[in-house]
Amino acid sequence: MGPVVRGLVTTYCVPRGVRPRAYVDMVSQLYHFEKRASRCSGASSKRATTAAFVVIYIRRFADETRHAGIYRAYLERLGDMAPINEGLRILLDVASGRALVPQQSRSSERHDEADAERQQNAQIEKLPCPLLRQISRLVAQDELGTRASARST
Ligand SMILES: [Fe+2]
Repeated sequence: MGPVVRGLVTTYCVPRGVRPRAYVDMVSQLYHFEKRASRCSGASSKRATTAAFVVIYIRRFADETRHAGIYRAYLERLGDMAPINEGLRILLDVASGRALVPQQSRSSERHDEADAERQQNAQIEKLPCPLLRQISRLVAQDELGTRASARST
């Protein structure tokens, strides 16, 4: 089992009407995404040009590594893991080729972020699995913290 996050509920389920294989595939893509984010953050921390960015990337690396570990542990409970979807792999390859430098966002972008956050939180609350719902809250909270620290740099 992967890293244990204290306080997480242990009740989990495959949503009704969803084939278990399709559910495992969906959660697996979240895992692969987080794993790639972890790797990119680690690489970026080594290329960062200021101490502030080093701190941001190291924090992001720790967060993304933890997220990947949590999804992996969830998949272990489901009993399976699917390989990365080819479309996601291509997308991540393209994205990781770009310089991912944290930048200050304009107020209109912050408004968009706040709106996206509200929508994301609403979707999270609709997740039928209590454990995945809790994991998603945790990941969203971390992402919020990462964006806030990037803004204050
Ligand atoms: Fe993440």
